[in-house]
Amino acid sequence: MRTTLIRAFREQRVGKAETETIILKEVATLLEKVKEKDGKPFDINQPIHISIANVICSISFGCRYSHDDVYISKLVSLIDDFLVNPNVIGPLTFLPFLKYIPFDPFQWSKLRRMSDELREHCRSILTNHRESYNPGQIRDVVDRLIDKQNTENDTSESSFTDDKLIQSLFELFMGGTDTTSTAMRWFILFVIKNPDVQHRMRKEIKENVGEGSLVTWQDKQCLRFCEAVILETLRMGNIAPFSIPHTVSQDFILSDYVIPKDAILFPSIDSVNFDPEKFEDVRRFNPDRFVDENGELRRTNYLMPFSTGRRACIGESLARMELFLFATNLVNTFELLAEQDGLEPSMEYNLGLVHGPKPYKLRAVHFNH
Ligand code: HEM
Repeated sequence: MRTTLIRAFREQRVGKAETETIILKEVATLLEKVKEKDGKPFDINQPIHISIANVICSISFGCRYSHDDVYISKLVSLIDDFLVNPNVIGPLTFLPFLKYIPFDPFQWSKLRRMSDELREHCRSILTNHRESYNPGQIRDVVDRLIDKQNTENDTSESSFTDDKLIQSLFELFMGGTDTTSTAMRWFILFVIKNPDVQHRMRKEIKENVGEGSLVTWQDKQCLRFCEAVILETLRMGNIAPFSIPHTVSQDFILSDYVIPKDAILFPSIDSVNFDPEKFEDVRRFNPDRFVDENGELRRTNYLMPFSTGRRACIGESLARMELFLFATNLVNTFELLAEQDGLEPSMEYNLGLVHGPKPYKLRAVHFNH
């Protein structure tokens, strides 16, 4: 299924120029929404979440939603609540019988209800697509998956069931929404806490792209510092600290340990992000650690926010493009400030599968370039 999804992504040209157009449209809408706040304190969580959800919805489902749409607001809140719920990575994962304990202390029913609701949304997307599907006119990722399903059905006993297809849409919607919007919310917090960083980003953009111009993906090659800020956000933001749990399919030996078949493993990305042997002064937000003495980006194998190996995140190139375009255009348009002068934003977080900042307010003062 993963291979099918990756192929559908490739054919849909995810991470290429076509995707950039979709992202820039959402960037423009977000900038407008933020401008409407007129420099007054507000919580940017929902607007960012909807903008990022719109990117994955446009690419995968062929639709986008208005920021005032109650339905999408509800869906993104559901995803958020689900992924930051500590029980998602708690004992329920290892001891499934805990879901039968009276009074449901691990919130199994609540989590189940949430995931059922999101799956229902994906099911209705599939049904609507089937009704309007035209093999000569493939519109999005869902059409490509239907296409693949139809071809398989023609030739063999299909293993590509509707349930599997819906599960893929569910993972795309979940994986593609909360992770990236959480990274954006960390980015904003970090640059509010480190005003010199946003000033340096802005200066770099002004010198290489132009004041008030829209930053595009092509500009990335001359915006090294901006890129370093995003890398440092991915490290310090520690978005998916335990990656996704995987079950071991056969016994294997790692160093002196035997890892038995059926064991559940949580790869600790957190321990990589904060490894003091690989990163100096690990708890300090310091984008310069990713810039070398010539001002070029310093590449390292020790930063792996999207995990590594055969199951690594399939949305990495999309996420990198989204983070770059949203972050650079936001700082190039607004001065991002704490809710009140002299009030430091809190770095408190929620921790589930995703490690996200607790809701906070900011002010975004528009530059009249
Ligand atoms: C900052 C943004 C993101 C981060 C930090 C992130 C991180 C991760 C990580 C750590 C994994 C687990 C890999 C593993 O199991 O070894 C993963 C899986 C996944 N991600 Fe992302 N991700 C991000 C954005 C996205 C986006 C934009 C999409 C949508 C296209 C996406 C879709 C997925 C999917 C479908 C999986 C499951 C892959 C599988 O089961 O084989 N992610 N992601």
